[in-house]
Parts: sequence; C-alpha cells; structure tokens
Amino acid sequence: MHIRTWILCLLAVAVPCLADSSYYRDVRPILQKNCQGCHQPASRMSDLDLTTYAGLKKGGKRGPSFIAGDPATSAVIQFMTGAQKPPMPLGQPMLAPADVEIIREWIKAGAKDDSHAKNSPTRRPSTSRPPS
Ligand code: HEC
Repeated sequence: MHIRTWILCLLAVAVPCLADSSYYRDVRPILQKNCQGCHQPASRMSDLDLTTYAGLKKGGKRGPSFIAGDPATSAVIQFMTGAQKPPMPLGQPMLAPADVEIIREWIKAGAKDDSHAKNSPTRRPSTSRPPS
C-alpha cells in the first residue's frame, strides 16, 4: 500500500476517536435522517422541532430533549432506547446502536452547539455606512 494511503487510513480510524461528537457534523444528520419527518416546524409532533439545536434544547411537551452531561436522563436518549414509550422513531425500526452512541457521547461531552460557525451565512449590512 502506498504510504499516503496508509496514513489516510490511520487518520480515518483515529480522528473520530479523538474528536468529540459534534452537533453539526454528527448529531444533526442523524436527527435529520430519522426524526425530522415528524419533528420539524411544519409538523411539530409533541411540540418538538428537531431541525435546530435550539429546538432540540427547548424540547417538546415533556420539556428539554437533553440534559447536558447526562445522557441517561435526556429525553432523546430515553425515547430512542425505548426507556420511555413510545420508542422513537415512532413506528419505525430503532436506530443503529452506533448512532445512538454518537448522540449519547455528544450529550455526555456537554452537548455543545457548534452549528453557528459553519451554519450562519456571513451577513453584511445592505447599505454601507459612511466611514466615521
Ligand atoms: C412517525 C413520526 C415520528 C418520528 C419519525 C419520530 N417521532 Fe418522536 N414523537 C412522535 C410522536 C407522535 C410523539 C408524541 C408521543 C406521545 O406523546 O405519546 C413523539 C415524541 C417524541 C419525544 C418526546 C417529546 C416531548 O417532550 O413530548 C421525543 C424526545 C422524540 N419524539 C424524539 C424523537 C427522535 C429522537 C426521533 C428520531 C430518532 C423521533 N422522535 C422520530 C412522532 C415521531
């Protein structure tokens, strides 16, 4: 194997272990794929919008969806593992354990919101102010 390929392989294995789970990179796509059919602004089942960090934090009828640092008492984890009924995603097979683990790790690490840096468009004022 070419040495560069080898190094890339090594990095691919090592990096996910070293880096904390990221909301934007890891958690958001999982929720997007499995949960947002029902939990989004146009269809907020149980008053829950999982399309944004703010929505996840605010939670639904039962309160916040996660408690930072405490995955075991966090609603998303409880519903995804079936500890609270009905299990989520509702009426569909449960998520792969590895996906649940990613979200669990993210909550355990403090459930940080890293969506702003990459998500928000760089806005500039539409009218330029004269230099003062
Ligand atoms: C097919 C629609 C559907 C899908 C897909 C779905 N949910 Fe739900 N979810 C519901 C409904 C309906 C409720 C309300 C259940 C109840 O109160 O009996 C609910 C409730 C919840 C609650 C509790 C909200 C509260 O405070 O009352 C959480 C947390 C939750 N879902 C997370 C998820 C997660 C995470 C996923 C993806 C893994 C997901 N759901 C996928 C329909 C869905």
